[in-house]
Amino acid sequence: MKNTYYITTPIYYPSGQAHLGHSYSTVAADVMARYKRMQGFDVMFLTGTDEHGQKIELNAQKAGLSPKDYIDPIVDNFKKLWKLLGISYDKFIRTTDGYHKRAVQKIFDDLYKKKEIYKGKYSGWYCTPCESFFTDVQAKGGKCPDCGREVRREEEESYFFKLSEYSEKLLKFYDDNPNFIQPESRKNEMIKFIKEGLDDLCVSRTSFKWGIPVNFDKDHVVYVWLDALTNYITAQGYGSEDSGDYKKYWPADVHFVGKEIVRFHAVIWPAILMALELPLPKRIFGHGWLLFGDGGKMSKSKGNVIDPNILCGRYSVDAVRYFLMREIPFGSDGIFVNESLIKRINFDLANDLGNLLSRSTAMVEKYFESCILENSEFSNIDNDLINMAKSLQSEYQKSMDNFHFSSALDKIWLLISKSNKYIDENMPWKLAKEEKSKPRLSTVLYNLCECLRIISILISPFMPDTSKKIQNQLGTSKDICGWETASKWGLMPLGFKVKKGEPLFPRIDIEKEIEDLNKIIENKSEDSNDTTAELIDIEDFGKIDLKVVKVENCEHIKRSKKLLKLTVNDGKAIRTIVSGISDYYAPEELIGKHVVIVSNLKSAKLCGIESQGMILAADCGENEVKAIFANEIPAGSKIR
Ligand code: MSP
Repeated sequence: MKNTYYITTPIYYPSGQAHLGHSYSTVAADVMARYKRMQGFDVMFLTGTDEHGQKIELNAQKAGLSPKDYIDPIVDNFKKLWKLLGISYDKFIRTTDGYHKRAVQKIFDDLYKKKEIYKGKYSGWYCTPCESFFTDVQAKGGKCPDCGREVRREEEESYFFKLSEYSEKLLKFYDDNPNFIQPESRKNEMIKFIKEGLDDLCVSRTSFKWGIPVNFDKDHVVYVWLDALTNYITAQGYGSEDSGDYKKYWPADVHFVGKEIVRFHAVIWPAILMALELPLPKRIFGHGWLLFGDGGKMSKSKGNVIDPNILCGRYSVDAVRYFLMREIPFGSDGIFVNESLIKRINFDLANDLGNLLSRSTAMVEKYFESCILENSEFSNIDNDLINMAKSLQSEYQKSMDNFHFSSALDKIWLLISKSNKYIDENMPWKLAKEEKSKPRLSTVLYNLCECLRIISILISPFMPDTSKKIQNQLGTSKDICGWETASKWGLMPLGFKVKKGEPLFPRIDIEKEIEDLNKIIENKSEDSNDTTAELIDIEDFGKIDLKVVKVENCEHIKRSKKLLKLTVNDGKAIRTIVSGISDYYAPEELIGKHVVIVSNLKSAKLCGIESQGMILAADCGENEVKAIFANEIPAGSKIR
């Protein structure tokens, strides 16, 4: 019987669309799943969506939909993106699935019967987007310690899980299982967190309805983390009639999670499992964040095209997968920049790997009519290359087993560089000139094809399509492209037929590409259709407060040729707005008019005057700008 390997991603909130950050965790888990399958493990790779909670309830309300109708298309988009990215998950759990809901209710009942859950009153600082309560210390300054947004005081009757009783047990478990939390730095954070003292955990809510009802107290819904974390066991049938996969795969070999949710996985989840008297997962790996835009904060598109659908369409899925895994060591944060992605494609993929394949196959075609029939003229300079190729697998394995994806790829690229250098040292084009050097030339090309065979095997978890393309061009058969063949030399049988194909990764003209990307960003791309325009979520739109205001007064600003100072009435108060429209309107043309403004823009000083909002105006081209007048709409009306 095969050994099992159970790997999970976090389950994603479908409160917004799937993005590159989500893709990061998921691609990493996919790489690991493919790697383990290649090694012959019986892999269970689980991903899914975390669909309950107040934030989704609120978003759905804003969109005028039921929560389920609101999330269904978003969940579909997650699945579509995973398909595009070649994610080979075995199961996809939705926490709204009936079997999960029933199992969570059962788990809640069991914990209550075991007196691990009790009824109490909760008072704390609540952050709606993060769906988390915080203590006074954590929510210093009225801000959420995780996302920095405002928190508000809330009190309600709740059920509590006795987390506070688990401090010692957790610390002992960490001691006994030193590799449980990785990387090491995250483990130290968790130890510190526990030593500061654990509070009991609120596990039910009455202030919103979109959740799994507690069986024996229907006013309460199960609060999101108990619902979410248990997915890792319910997806395999725990709490259902058919629990075969649970018995087969649990405990999980690793949960991949982002660094901000390590706490939930390394503290709360093990405590819940201890309370249920179930085995604990073997590892929690807290990876870093992919940061976008400036200042390191995650922002949607500060000069960067980050939509994975666009990136995969412009380059290739494998290029995106490769970049995500190569550029940033898995435990660390890293900034995503389009230019770095393009450079990696040009240098690592087109120059190093692509050229190695195209040069090698082209020479076999040209000098030997696509077929190598001889491999007997060894030279001492082959030894280095052959030894490096033979030992690559074990070096690579060390990195992969520790989730050091970037270093595994570094090692493969050492062999790629070495092979390219081997071509330059042996100068096949010179050997081809003399008939007597043909046996040596044949051996050189054979060695290059063998290296490419080994490379194609080891890159396959990262770049499955590219791996297949290389194997097709080399004309290798499947039986010499498995894991166990990657450390063996000389498996290509003489007579294999090479077929040079299209370049694996066409080179990109960086300057032109950046220009094109900028066009996309400005949304001015000539073929700006739905797939290239950057889309925003309804929640992003909801953040913009558009209002109709009446212009009470308007005057030129002395120090500026372009700016007008408008005094406007927004139905509740008078505010000042500075607007750069003096080329297009005389002040008297605006007085008395109703215009549309963005009313929740942070105020800014322009020519020493504080502007409290922005007037909407249309750029009509030909040096014409028109304010958006709304005279028939009363001042103070909100635009939705
Ligand atoms: N629903 C919870 C997880 C429950 S698991 C039992 C949740 N969802 S989430 O959608 O907000 O985030 C899911 C994962 O995506 C987290 O691990 C988070 O770190 C990861 N990422 C979201 N944005 C990210 C980046 N920009 N970079 C890397 N990963 C990030 O938390």
